[in-house]
Amino acid sequence: MNKQGTTGRIDRINIAIDGPAGAGKSTIARMVANKLQYIYVDTGAMYRAVTWLMLKEGISADNDEKVLQMSQQMVIELKPHENGQMVLLNGEDITPYIRSHEVSSAVSRYAQIEGLRTYLVNLQRQMAMHKGVVMDGRDIGTTVLPDAEVKIFLTASVKERALRRYKQLGEAEGVSLEQLEMDIARRDSLDEKREVSPLRRAEDAIELDTTQMTIQQVVDTILSYCISRMDGE
Ligand code: DC
Repeated sequence: MNKQGTTGRIDRINIAIDGPAGAGKSTIARMVANKLQYIYVDTGAMYRAVTWLMLKEGISADNDEKVLQMSQQMVIELKPHENGQMVLLNGEDITPYIRSHEVSSAVSRYAQIEGLRTYLVNLQRQMAMHKGVVMDGRDIGTTVLPDAEVKIFLTASVKERALRRYKQLGEAEGVSLEQLEMDIARRDSLDEKREVSPLRRAEDAIELDTTQMTIQQVVDTILSYCISRMDGE
């Protein structure tokens, strides 16, 4: 029987993918979305876009009101792109800036602002209203889309996640592997301990430890869960 209480096939579902930084969420979510021809929503990119703007405008994360006010005035667009996803802020392509070390180090502080989270969560829910969405983040299965038909919680060891980020950033950023390991451990702790929507596995989420898995194995595993849900299992 499916969630609607009937036994038929479900045409379109929502897929929530959560997990800590560097667990491979965005790569995997994008591949799952491509395969199913679904829309991919990278919610971390939304928190990153806000952070980038606040750093540029010199607005501290302690100034909750100003952060919220400016966020409500900005237009964030997520567009599919051959190398991933393009992030536009008020029409400007800010994709190259939002993954910088500077933004990565500051984003957890802005992501703790309750008003900002409420605002972004509402936007995210609207994006998923018509189903057919793969959304990744920290609180998708628990808060944003508690009714998602498939919920995945992706993990990998801190060492492995740091190594993946190191390869992704390349040497141009000048950040050492040790520094990345420390940053990831610090962000895990901030994301897990914050009061609003902390990073935690939804009770009904399937946990996948990807430390020893290839990307394709993870994608195939998730797709098989999706197919069984669509078949009403
Ligand atoms: O997934 P990411 O590394 O791009 O996320 C950037 C930051 O945003 C990270 O510190 C956690 C935060 N985040 C969040 O709090 N809730 C989400 N749904 C997505 C990301």
